[in-house]
Amino acid sequence: MSINKAIGVFDSGIGGLTVLKEIIKLSPHEDTIYLGDTARVPYGTKSAETVTRYSLEITDFLVTKGIKLLVVACNTASAVALPALREKHSLPIIGVIEPGARKAAATTQTKKVGVIGTEGTIKSGAYEKAIKALAPEIEVISKPCPLFVPLAEEGWTDNEVARAAASRYLEDMKGVDTLVLGCTHYPLLKGAIASVMGRNVRLIDSGEETALEVRRVLGKEGLLRGLSPTGKRTFYVTDNPERFVSVGLRFLGSVLGHAERVEIP
Ligand code: DGL
Repeated sequence: MSINKAIGVFDSGIGGLTVLKEIIKLSPHEDTIYLGDTARVPYGTKSAETVTRYSLEITDFLVTKGIKLLVVACNTASAVALPALREKHSLPIIGVIEPGARKAAATTQTKKVGVIGTEGTIKSGAYEKAIKALAPEIEVISKPCPLFVPLAEEGWTDNEVARAAASRYLEDMKGVDTLVLGCTHYPLLKGAIASVMGRNVRLIDSGEETALEVRRVLGKEGLLRGLSPTGKRTFYVTDNPERFVSVGLRFLGSVLGHAERVEIP
């Protein structure tokens, strides 16, 4: 495996750019190839079978582009598709659930952790299983918060609508001292979520933890690129590149430049 190959990253759409942002922050010298499946988004309301099929198709595509490691930046896809992806492909594959769960288990003092995500992620129980595998005594309270996704895309992240949605969704989270933001879009709503949860509750951003895991695995596999020039950024989408570039700006926190439309499969 060549260290000069790119890190492949995929998500159902633009949300995974919050994960890519963290990867670029920690590993700026790595080339990255991102695919947003904007023609088939959302994944959060689809069945595990469908999300797994889409994930396999996208991984096949990214592997043909020459990648040294794959990041499944979508929580829903990470929750259901990792075993199938790892069975088919031998390159290192990192999902967002394990790193977020590990951080939550290490952070909680009250042994009560909240997890929020899409319907698909919460229904899979993937975060709960991962947290309990590390510390069975931790109580996990899970809640789907589907409205947070369109709110983040609309840019309504810290207004009265976002705060009203957050206080309604999070009313069951009493007693948790750690809350996992188990969806790519939720880091944009950190302000509204924190204002409802209060300052004593630690918010875990799975994207940040995943970026740390990417560096750890690249180091372990001898695949870190080192001090080469700043990495090349490539973006593919399956529909509407213009919207991806304009809305994606807020998710990535910097200008995307250009996204190429491709057909998958
Ligand atoms: N990217 C998805 C996730 O993190 C959220 C958007 C969707 O439902 O596709 O679960």
